[in-house]
This record gives sequence, C-alpha cells and structure tokens, in this order.
Amino acid sequence: MWADAAKTDELAPGGLKYARVNGVELTLGNYDGTIYAVGRRCGHMNAPLDDGSLDGFILTCPLHDAQFDITTGKATGYPMPHHHSDETRSPAMANEARANHRLALKIRLLDLATYPARVLGDTIQVDV
Ligand code: FES
Repeated sequence: MWADAAKTDELAPGGLKYARVNGVELTLGNYDGTIYAVGRRCGHMNAPLDDGSLDGFILTCPLHDAQFDITTGKATGYPMPHHHSDETRSPAMANEARANHRLALKIRLLDLATYPARVLGDTIQVDV
C-alpha cells in the first residue's frame, strides 16, 4: 500500500533520509534524481544506513563500511572492521580486538529489503 514517506525537498541528489512508513523503518536515497527505498538497518550489524553515505548507487554503512547497491539492495562490499595499531593497546585489549575481528569475519552480510518508491507532486511515497 502506497504511503507518504517524505517531501522531495528533504532529499537532495546523493542524499539519504530516514523514514518510517506503516511501522517499517526505511532509508530513502536519491540516486541521480530517482528515489529508492531500502530497509533502514544494515545487513551486517543493524547500523542505521541513513547515517551512511551514498556515492552514485553505492550505499555505504557508517559503522564498518559494508556497501549495498541501493537500486537492488544487494550487498556489494563486505564490512571492513576499523583497525587500530596494536602498539597503542594493552596486550589484553589487542587480544580482544583480534578475537572480535575473527568473529566479525564470520558474521553474515544480508542483502537489504527494497520497496517501490515514487514521487507524486512534492511527495515521496513508498509501497510497504
Ligand atoms: S553494521 Fe553495517 S557494516 Fe557493520
């Protein structure tokens, strides 16, 4: 069912925006003047993708930089844990960081749900 999600002037080209439509959390993205709607939460560890970035059709997660094609929701780039030099950590912290890194590599990266979006006048609508 189509429902209002945002106003067009709230989403400039290259922009991302959070919207909640009929209880569904979405990230809206404006790729080259066309509006796309995907599930808000990253397919890695649920970070809010509207806090990420949109470069062309590539949506990048703000937490570990996983990437998704906003036009299809498909994952295109695996998360990259942010590394810090072991030299600045205690041995215990360095061991914990290495263990966390090994676990992070075993977490599955899920594709994003996608939803049809359209513009009617000055309103963005999404079919959720
Ligand atoms: S939560 Fe998005 S890449 Fe980890």
